[in-house]
Amino acid sequence: MAIKTALTSLLNIEYPILLAPMAGVAGGALASAVTRAGGLGIIGGGYGDKDWLAQQLLAAGNAPVGVGFITWSLRNNPALLDLALAHRPKAMFLSFGDIDDFAPPIKRAGIVLIAQVQTLAQARKAAGDGADVIVAQGTEAGGHGGGRATLPLVPAVVDALKGEVPVVAAGGIADGRGLAAALMLGAAGVVCGSVFYASRESLTHANNKRAAVAASGDDTIRSSAIDVARGIDWPAQWNIRTLRNPFIARWHGDLDALRRTAAAEKPRYLQAAAEGDTEVAAVIVGEAADLITADLGAAEIVARMAAEAEARLGSAARMLG
Ligand SMILES: Cc1cc2nc3c(=O)[nH]c(=O)nc-3n(C[C@H](O)[C@H](O)[C@H](O)COP(=O)(O)O)c2cc1C
Repeated sequence: MAIKTALTSLLNIEYPILLAPMAGVAGGALASAVTRAGGLGIIGGGYGDKDWLAQQLLAAGNAPVGVGFITWSLRNNPALLDLALAHRPKAMFLSFGDIDDFAPPIKRAGIVLIAQVQTLAQARKAAGDGADVIVAQGTEAGGHGGGRATLPLVPAVVDALKGEVPVVAAGGIADGRGLAAALMLGAAGVVCGSVFYASRESLTHANNKRAAVAASGDDTIRSSAIDVARGIDWPAQWNIRTLRNPFIARWHGDLDALRRTAAAEKPRYLQAAAEGDTEVAAVIVGEAADLITADLGAAEIVARMAAEAEARLGSAARMLG
């Protein structure tokens, strides 16, 4: 059985499940596996490493996939958009910044433009700037995000956009119960990151996957510590949800001191990330961590999520009367 929504019609996919464009984690193998399973895989172009992106687009083979960028970072390197568009992605996914400069070339190329937002004001602005799909991302999400919770944010964005643009829910959704609930909130689908972070095809270190499977949502924290350590100059309105570890516990309340020692901490942090040292480098998952219980392939994650949502939606009417 397929699940039909405005999102599945727009993208011509079987299930309204999008892989989050996780920077450096969602590569071609993961994206193509999600697409082949009936959702849409999106490669995490992140801050824009041209060679990495070209390699991952190649790895996706002939499966249609999307490409995502971090919008404020793309502004420093707009030529990357041309590189992505030249590959004719199925969709472009932009988050964290205004899309106004980038919407015209994407629309001219006839490519679906997905904008991820964290507030109502950003949702209205992105819709006005031409987004074809708005992703309302709640603070439960793994990775960067804002302060609003998914449950009230999604229906508020649906109401604000008055049905003119399909709204997709992100943040805390990792199984069919979450997908069914998001559809009941008025969303046309979901974006999932954390659950695919731990998947077999994810490019993150095996230690990170193991830690994600073992963790609970109780163990996560939103902080700017790892961005300061990595020397990535994120605008203050967004921070990053990860598992709490000794490094973050040490620096979270002391960011100015971390800035002062950044020259020494950055190489230490980057080395820890390369080695999968989870005491220092962050495991980037959100509150859905409780629901990530096994190291599965992406196709199985999509199939289980879709089947569980179908079963929940199918049996919901029995609660009436
Ligand atoms: C490891 C990781 C990396 C992420 N990187 C990006 C990114 O580069 N660009 C982006 O738009 N969102 C990124 N996100 C956020 C996702 O787009 C999405 O909103 C989030 O994963 C949804 O919540 P969930 O993690 O509970 O599924 C990332 C999320 C994770 C877990």
